[in-house]
Amino acid sequence: MPDQTAIPEDAIPENSAELARPSDSRLSTEEITPPLTEWLSAKAGSPATITGIHPPDGNGMSSETVIVDAEWDGEQHNLVVRVAPDPKSDPVFPDYDLDVQFKLMEHVGTTTKVPVPPLYWSEPSDAVIGYPFIVMGRVDGEVPPDVLPYTFGSWLTEATEEQRQQLQRETIEALAGIHASPMPEDLLEAPRDGETALAAHLRRVEDFYAWTIEGRSGSPLLERALQWARENLPDTDESLLTWGDARIGNVIYQDFHPAAILDWEMAARGPRELDVAWGIALHRFFQDLTEMAGMEGLPTFWRRSDVEKMYAEASGVTPKDMDFYVAYNTMIYSMILFRVQCRAVEYGQAEEPDDPDDKILNKATLAAMIDGTYWEGIGDQR
Ligand SMILES: Nc1ncnc2c1ncn2[C@@H]1O[C@H](COP(=O)(O)OP(=O)(O)OP(=O)(O)O)[C@@H](O)[C@H]1O
Ligand SMILES: [Mg+2]
Repeated sequence: MPDQTAIPEDAIPENSAELARPSDSRLSTEEITPPLTEWLSAKAGSPATITGIHPPDGNGMSSETVIVDAEWDGEQHNLVVRVAPDPKSDPVFPDYDLDVQFKLMEHVGTTTKVPVPPLYWSEPSDAVIGYPFIVMGRVDGEVPPDVLPYTFGSWLTEATEEQRQQLQRETIEALAGIHASPMPEDLLEAPRDGETALAAHLRRVEDFYAWTIEGRSGSPLLERALQWARENLPDTDESLLTWGDARIGNVIYQDFHPAAILDWEMAARGPRELDVAWGIALHRFFQDLTEMAGMEGLPTFWRRSDVEKMYAEASGVTPKDMDFYVAYNTMIYSMILFRVQCRAVEYGQAEEPDDPDDKILNKATLAAMIDGTYWEGIGDQR
């Protein structure tokens, strides 16, 4: 088993914001308590007190999640405050709109049966604590871990096959529920005239890549993958609300039932396959790493053919062109790994490799996917 450093400490997109960031806290809990108390009082329309406040790791506030216990109107409120990343800290993504994420969760919560956290209020300005933030109710339960990935040993590997199948089915039902939600027109960027939602998605991925390589050498593999994506882009004009970072690591489960769908940072308009394929791409990343480390992982979990079948049952629509979409999402994920590794080199936490493609941990998987040889190599895990 590789030690944890063999996997980028934050192997997952949104977690990546934590990697290679200067370690000193940007704010202390002492500093934010008075303004947050005042703000909560104004929002609640009644004097609030904060009875407990701590980052989950007890390490100052370099993390973006703060656990807050508050009281108003004689009632206890268990809250989670998510604070936007500091744009000056060289974030993984060029922009981050928490207020839109809050409104998307509200939209999904009011238009579908898909579970989202209880939503209190959003503060889109920097005026209160220096950064935008949102306040949610705290949902009890368990999240499949990313570090180390759940395939390496976790409550999921310890569960029964039936429990995992139930979790898989109900998560896929939630995905179908999101796709049945009406389009929140004013929350998600519309494609340009004559452009499909998928083409607009690819255009933004290309912009992200161009931003990522500003002032440094690019990755021949990612450039080949982008070219491949342009040439093989499915001809579809489907445009639905897609969750974006659609994977089990962004779900809080209670007894294997989804209790809250989190993390709407990558939500976009697009075809449903974007979401169906993202979870498959990320599971393959974790499962391949686990097998490379000589362990079994979860070969019968989140299998591509099962996911496609369950999604079709839940939504009435069979996903199409999934070879494309899993490869496309793997490319996006590889790009994020590349970006994270470039930052690690800049912060002196990693060596610049001779070959820029060596910054991409899953480069063999991505190459095999765009060459069309990946799936035959994984036998009945397809
Ligand atoms: N409403 C909530 N109730 C309980 N826990 C929550 C809630 N929202 C977020 N969390 C906790 O915070 C973690 C990260 O949340 P989320 O996936 O939304 O953000 P992220 O951008 O991935 O954050 P990070 O980089 O801190 O992992 C979740 O895995 C969960 O443990
Ligand atoms: Mg997340």
